[in-house]
Amino acid sequence: MGAVDYAAQLDDRGGSVTSVLFVCLGNICRSPTAEGVFREFARAEGLIDDIAIDSAGTGAWHVGEPPDQRAQAAAASRGYDLSAQRARQVDPADFARHDLILAMDRTNFDDLCALCPPGMQDRIRLFLSFAPSAEIEEVPDPYYGAGDGFQRVLDLVEDASRGLLEHLRAS
Ligand code: 4NP
Repeated sequence: MGAVDYAAQLDDRGGSVTSVLFVCLGNICRSPTAEGVFREFARAEGLIDDIAIDSAGTGAWHVGEPPDQRAQAAAASRGYDLSAQRARQVDPADFARHDLILAMDRTNFDDLCALCPPGMQDRIRLFLSFAPSAEIEEVPDPYYGAGDGFQRVLDLVEDASRGLLEHLRAS
């Protein structure tokens, strides 16, 4: 797999590793799910050493916490282990560190754009823009909703992860 075009601009990583950062509000439901799912997709395709994968939240309320128990249980039902992850907040250095910064919803996207240094905003994308079959553009926040919201998150995240992997392969 080749490096994406803008990898050469990175100042704190060498080589051809592509780095992706998944971002939601709390970093305890959607973005840890995306990190865990995409990590398994990359591993299954033999690309785990070629792609750096991380997640963060725009908010700081849950920093240091493991993913929400409901997110962990839903992920485990499909074979994904989120238990080692710990929430952290997006840092301004993330924009230089990652090739793609993938927002779960429009509010995350707008908050990231407000934090982003000049000239790096093209790294910020809505994650579902990579989903081949999604009819919506945001991953709905499951935190305050019914339990099946977490399965819906997984459906959307698996779909977009498939598309993201194809995108990176083609880059
Ligand atoms: P996430 O979900 O952004 O998918 O991690 C949320 C987690 C916590 C809160 C909101 C959304 N909260 O308000 O604490």
